Amino acid sequence: MDKRYYLTTAIDYVNGAPHIGHAYEKILSDVIVRHYRQRLDDVYFLTGVDEHGIKIQKTAAEKGMTPQQMCDENSSKFKQAWKALDVDYDQFIRTTDKYHTEVVQRIFDKLLKQGDIYKNSYEGLYCPGCESFLNPKDLTEDGLCPIHHKKPELVSEENYFFKLSKYKDSLIKYIKENPSFIVPQFRANEVLNQLENLDDFSVSRAKESVEWGIPVLGDEDQVIYVWIDALSNYITALGWDVDKSSEKFDKYWSEVHHVIGKDILKFHCIYWGAILMALGLPLPKQLLVHGFININQEKMSKTLGNVIAPVDILNAWNLEKPDAFRYYMACAASSGKDGNYSDEDFKEKVNADLANSTGNLLNRTLSMLVKYFNGEIKSEFVVNSDLYKTALGKVQIVKNHFDNYEISEAGAEIMDLVNITNKYVTDNAPWTLAKEDKMTECGQVLVTVLNVMTVVCSLLYPFCPNIALDMASQLSFDLNTKLDDLNCNNIKPGKFIEKESIHPVFLRLDSELADKKK
Ligand code: MSP
Repeated sequence: MDKRYYLTTAIDYVNGAPHIGHAYEKILSDVIVRHYRQRLDDVYFLTGVDEHGIKIQKTAAEKGMTPQQMCDENSSKFKQAWKALDVDYDQFIRTTDKYHTEVVQRIFDKLLKQGDIYKNSYEGLYCPGCESFLNPKDLTEDGLCPIHHKKPELVSEENYFFKLSKYKDSLIKYIKENPSFIVPQFRANEVLNQLENLDDFSVSRAKESVEWGIPVLGDEDQVIYVWIDALSNYITALGWDVDKSSEKFDKYWSEVHHVIGKDILKFHCIYWGAILMALGLPLPKQLLVHGFININQEKMSKTLGNVIAPVDILNAWNLEKPDAFRYYMACAASSGKDGNYSDEDFKEKVNADLANSTGNLLNRTLSMLVKYFNGEIKSEFVVNSDLYKTALGKVQIVKNHFDNYEISEAGAEIMDLVNITNKYVTDNAPWTLAKEDKMTECGQVLVTVLNVMTVVCSLLYPFCPNIALDMASQLSFDLNTKLDDLNCNNIKPGKFIEKESIHPVFLRLDSELADKKK
């Protein structure tokens, strides 16, 4: 395993407030980052917003604002949302940041001077939703964009183009020779098919049609168009500049993992791959591609009026902490596939997994320890157990799932460990042992469960950081323990817990207790 990990998310367009799809990606990314922080000392997490383009220019005009005003307003909504969801990034880049725009201009200039960019007049079908020209072959039967279901605009103007044709063969070779470049792998075939039919792509727009972009150096009538601007954020954020690297870039670039949605794989694999080749830089280590989140099994869209803001979900359920929503989202789809959000399903899953299976298990075990032993661990309670092998085996399984970008699968394995432990409690019935006055055996069962719960809380931490912290504090367990140092030897003899400090780590949604808190 490499020592460092650099994770980036897609940068979101700020023509509106963040929705549950944006939140899905950021939560997934934060869960991955928190997991690797439990394994490595050096993890860097970049996210941010994409602030240029026609969509943003138009929306701002409709609202009677300048694009910059709207970007300022909406960017802070994204930051607030990530704070509410405990998305703990190291850096938040805005593509209007000066350090970014200046390097983008120099990148463009370099590519132009070395002949990778050329000027040409062009007539094509432009989809503002995609911020990209579409190939007539890709339109629906009604001539609409297959993603945004809108008629593309016929655009005829002078643009700069990137010579994709020059890099096509090298890209195909790279994708074929590096099977772990695109995860999940089934997405790689899609890209290879697309590569067969791709032409050089436009990297600028005439200023008269789009004003809100980074101007081309020395050609005031053109602005650099979204993809060179947006994609470069991954290197400008690290302080990389044309002909001048940076300490951060040298440290992290070889370990970069781009988390992106399936709709922007083409841009990341093909456009970004070719731009990096042209800049003489190594291609990203991995593209981790996720599917889309639907709402009640329907595509989320403004037209259907079913766009949900993540913060509204927290408010609707009166959740002070985002853990339940994070857990649900991170487990909402198996690797790379689409997932779904529905209120009913959300309530059912988090009540079952977090309140009943996990929370109750800890709560009743600690309560029995107080009831039967006044909260004291006697030295004869600390013995070895087969369950420890199972628990530490799960740590390996969960690590492997993360390495394969199988986050919901990792979540399911943690819940499996919880269920196995619940079964262990039922099978060994410590309450019967106590009734039969087999107190040493009873104490051994309880301590075994508590030791396993230290492993559970560590594995659960990336998904539910606040619940895990609460569990760890009731277990007197140090949550900073690295995953490779986990053992089942944390519950030590002596006075362990006071009755007053035992409390549920998660209240059932719609329960009386949760209602009382409202
Ligand atoms: N600005 C570009 C990305 C540039 S990256 C250098 C963009 N922005 S976006 O706001 O449209 O989308 C941002 C991310 O959110 C993308 O990865 C996209 O796939 C993801 N999602 C948008 N809607 C989504 C769902 N409904 N579900 C899951 N993720 C989705 O594209």
